Amino acid sequence: MSQREPTFTVREIPIYGDLILAPMDGFSDLPFRSLCRRFGSAMSYTPFVNAMELLAGARRAWRELAFLTEERPVVFQIYDSDERRLLEAALRVQELGPDVIDVNMGCSTRSVSGRGAGAGLLRDPAKVGRIIRMLSRSLEIPVTAKIRLGWDPDRLTYMDVARAVEDNGGALIAVHARTRAQGYKDAADWDAIAAIRGALTIPVVGNGDVSCVEDIERMKSHTGCDAVMIGRAAIGNPWIFQRRDRSSVPRTEVAAVMRDHLDRMAEHYGDELAIVLFRKHMLRYLEPILEERELRTAILRATERRTLDRLLEKAGLPAQGWVPARPAVSS
Ligand SMILES: Cc1cc2nc3c(=O)[nH]c(=O)nc-3n(C[C@H](O)[C@H](O)[C@H](O)COP(=O)(O)O)c2cc1C
Repeated sequence: MSQREPTFTVREIPIYGDLILAPMDGFSDLPFRSLCRRFGSAMSYTPFVNAMELLAGARRAWRELAFLTEERPVVFQIYDSDERRLLEAALRVQELGPDVIDVNMGCSTRSVSGRGAGAGLLRDPAKVGRIIRMLSRSLEIPVTAKIRLGWDPDRLTYMDVARAVEDNGGALIAVHARTRAQGYKDAADWDAIAAIRGALTIPVVGNGDVSCVEDIERMKSHTGCDAVMIGRAAIGNPWIFQRRDRSSVPRTEVAAVMRDHLDRMAEHYGDELAIVLFRKHMLRYLEPILEERELRTAILRATERRTLDRLLEKAGLPAQGWVPARPAVSS
């Protein structure tokens, strides 16, 4: 057993490390999460899953909640606008044995926020408080929230929302420092993360505009956050969880990690689907190192592993020489 002190705790759950892969629908599936966890992401968030679909027994929704033991601590993220449905869904998914249940309060997509779910909840801090209270009283595991700063610049409710989360039993809050109206535009407001950190005692995870190792340290010193959550900058770049910038990673290592990622996808989805779903990741792995457009297109169109391997060899990405990542958890 490790004697190492945890970086922070989510109620009693020790968290080792200060970098966390962000939940990303379409990207942070089991294969990518487990890869990033191996590289040092301190915990695993599933992408958001619709409570209504869970309650309706939709197989696609339930499949999103598959995880590996090595990913623990695992956070299931669910979303809805309705308090009762959120509770019902949380109680049901708790049966699968996650470590934490998180309520999404940040999704800006119109179909979600427009019906009062995701970032739609930010308009009503009292409702946020009721949801967190109901879930944290009824569940056996910690309840957390991932928020944005508010609906729009005129309704910056983050401080009321953050207090509502803490005062009603929430065990951690992750803050994407933009409003719903901003989507992914404009600079993230790290001052807001600092203000929340200053006002709460539960762990605060900062998120938004971290694209390289230097940004990690800048966000930490600017905000005092307990951990930094990284989304888009981790796609094609799990090395960020080892605090290594993509530009410093040798090609041979990129080649081997891509294959490891694809192997994980094949195991989870089967060969045929894996190669298709892997394309969006592969694009990001190749972007910084493969300028030859024709070859890149051929690689992205490959439908068989053998063809893909041959094309990757041709692109100077042989499957040798990978130095395995240091283990993420030593306990
Ligand atoms: C493709 C994509 C899917 C996302 N899906 C989710 C999601 O399911 N749940 C969630 O809380 N946030 C989701 N987000 C938001 C991210 O978790 C994160 O808050 C946002 O990307 C800002 O962080 P970044 O600048 O490090 O990317 C998603 C973002 C992207 C780009």
